[in-house]
Amino acid sequence: MGIRERTMMAGRISVRRPDSMLLPVHGGDIDEVARAYGLSTDRLIDFSANINPMGPPRRALLRLARDATNRDGLTQYPDPTYGELRRALAAVLHVPATAVTIANGSVALIGAVIRTIAPSECLLVTPSFAEYPRALQASRCRMRCLPLDAARRFDLDADVLIDALTKHRPPMCVLTNPHNPSGALTPRPQMLRVVDRSLRTNTRLVVDEAFMDYAPTETLVSEAVQSEHLVVLRSLTKFYGMPALRVGYAVSSPRMAATIVTQLPPWPVTTLAASAAAEAVQDQEYARRALVSVAHQRRWLSQALGTIGVNVYPSAANFLLLRLPTTAPTSARLRARLITDAGVIVRDCRSFDGLSNGRFIRVAVRRRDENEQLVRALRSVLGGAAHAR
Ligand SMILES: Cc1ncc(COP(=O)(O)O)c(C=O)c1O
Repeated sequence: MGIRERTMMAGRISVRRPDSMLLPVHGGDIDEVARAYGLSTDRLIDFSANINPMGPPRRALLRLARDATNRDGLTQYPDPTYGELRRALAAVLHVPATAVTIANGSVALIGAVIRTIAPSECLLVTPSFAEYPRALQASRCRMRCLPLDAARRFDLDADVLIDALTKHRPPMCVLTNPHNPSGALTPRPQMLRVVDRSLRTNTRLVVDEAFMDYAPTETLVSEAVQSEHLVVLRSLTKFYGMPALRVGYAVSSPRMAATIVTQLPPWPVTTLAASAAAEAVQDQEYARRALVSVAHQRRWLSQALGTIGVNVYPSAANFLLLRLPTTAPTSARLRARLITDAGVIVRDCRSFDGLSNGRFIRVAVRRRDENEQLVRALRSVLGGAAHAR
């Protein structure tokens, strides 16, 4: 990845000096895969992006269809304050609307929040979503990495993080909860200890909760409203199955929200996306069904994958991180074989810090029939690999 890594600090913390602009790698590149492998997209199943296979709630689709044919609506700019969506989110999250900032995906808020805080240094819990190193680098911010340990199932040790905050007093710290790519959840009581310490070390804590809809009781949104030191980022992409619409939001103190918004372009979200998103978040029956369904399918998939010899990490989200057996092809080869043999796309995790050894892949939890197809395809490739030895 063109990164020179220097271990400067005691223990497991390192300061990273990227040599060149990082090229982020993401899942969900189904069109590119279809082109590269000469396949049609409808013959592919995408397990590489963690999108709810239920798709957007029906009432969001109906609103989208209605607004898409409303000539008057289309001839006006969006409401620059996104009042309807912010009020809908505020009601669901029990926070004031003034604490919510809307953007074109939570990814847009990563850069906006970093520019708002403008830190000289950031403590980044790794492996992390690729846009964090990229945005930190773009803001010329020094990165200090705190790696999670595969041997400890990528569980965040709150004491280790608290020690690092106390020792280095970084102006900013970023972590993702539930963690991507492992799905490990740091429970609220531990997060509250981290929040408390960040206040004392004067660290702005950014908690990416892109997958928190799957563990809604653990969110820190109400704490974020009260604190000048905590920003929570959320996404509608994953849980509401709407990556194409590009809607995310931040929850922070109203004062911080008023500054974050200045770092975004005006009208970052289209009228159509904002109104569909407002419908989606109000559909509590959809949320309930999605939670039940993903928990059920995750349990099934995790158990089925365990029987074919891959190590499955515990996950609170709608994806599973897998460590491949030593007899398996590398993650890159396995991904290619799964595409050509079965039309199944998985996320090769080599681009994640600490997972570059070619032994890790990540798979989304999808519908039962699709999950069965994934297990069959993996069993076939891994079984063949085991016999070949
Ligand atoms: C941890 C994390 N944060 C943020 C995002 C960006 O999501 P959005 O589609 O809302 O921009 C992703 C997307 O994969 C993610 O994994």
